[in-house]
Amino acid sequence: MSKITAAIAGVGGWVPEDVLTNHDLEKMVETNNEWIVTRTGISERRILKVEGAGTSYIAIKAIQDLLSKTKTNVLDIELIICCTTTPDFVFPATANLIAAELGCTNAWGYDLQAACSGFLYGLSTGSQFIETGKYKKVLVVGADKMSSIINYQDRATCIIFGDGGGVALLEPNHEGLGIQDFQLHSDGNGAPYLHMKAGGSRKPASHESIDAREHAVFQEGATVFKFAVTNMSDVTTKLMERNGLTSEDLSWFVPHQANRRIIEAVANRLNVPIEKVIINIQKYGNTTNGTLPLCLWEFEKQFKKGDKVVLSAFGGGFTWGALYMKWAY
Ligand code: UT7
Repeated sequence: MSKITAAIAGVGGWVPEDVLTNHDLEKMVETNNEWIVTRTGISERRILKVEGAGTSYIAIKAIQDLLSKTKTNVLDIELIICCTTTPDFVFPATANLIAAELGCTNAWGYDLQAACSGFLYGLSTGSQFIETGKYKKVLVVGADKMSSIINYQDRATCIIFGDGGGVALLEPNHEGLGIQDFQLHSDGNGAPYLHMKAGGSRKPASHESIDAREHAVFQEGATVFKFAVTNMSDVTTKLMERNGLTSEDLSWFVPHQANRRIIEAVANRLNVPIEKVIINIQKYGNTTNGTLPLCLWEFEKQFKKGDKVVLSAFGGGFTWGALYMKWAY
């Protein structure tokens, strides 16, 4: 019997309609369009303004897109891994809310927290349930309502992040396509440079924490930038070498969309020409767990069966990693 690999059998995505442009931000903080475009590559991002809607709203829209495109029955879904940094609630898990809303009554699920590397962690862990033969349909969703944890008076962060998400359906493959290899890392020593100060069990919400605007992303941008370039380049190089993959062999490089300069620096170190690099940061900014699946969703039509695709990410934690797959459809 041939070895079972876990392959992406379909993708879905969704971003909110409301657009927040650089020119809008010029009216909110001391910044300008030119600085944002040249330093980050971002022109606009989407903001979820639906009253009472959290990350599950984004995830559900993305999954509905996938289910209708792939003609998948909700009752066939066995597991939902929701990769998010902005869960609807501390508990219960957003995955549970998604399953209930969609009627996935045969599925269980859990939330996965690895900040911007979440979707890579999710694909890697989800693939294990397929490769063992345990399950045939696993949803890995990456979604964030970053606007819920952004201080729109902090120009160092509010220009970067946006809301959105996407999802991949993992199924068994018997042709050797799909996920070939991955390498993941984490280092809690990076926590001081990118985190949210309050709202967790160390510092629950209080009048003081709200007044100090501690329920929002804190980032020491320049430090994170350096770690992102070095670690994404190193882990991707190792993964490619281990799989005998040269930059010429590679069909597509799909990097986390945090900053266009990070993407270009990593691509440069890997010697991957920019034509092979998937970039949509100009439209959506950094959607954290949403960036990688939104890239797959938006460029799906350009991928061909057998294409060699490498994904790479870096995020708060620190977390980072890379994953190599052969596109399966
Ligand atoms: O996805 C998770 C991982 N996150 C990342 O990978 C993000 C990594 N970091 C970055 O993308 C960049 O560091 C930022 C976009 C956050 C900042 O860009 P930078 O080139 O590293 O700028 P900087 O923080 O070193 O600041 C340079 C200057 C400073 O002014 P002075 O001190 O040189 O006078 C800042 O005060 O730019 C100033 N500045 C701004 N100016 C206009 C910072 N933010 C802004 C702004 N508009 N929004």
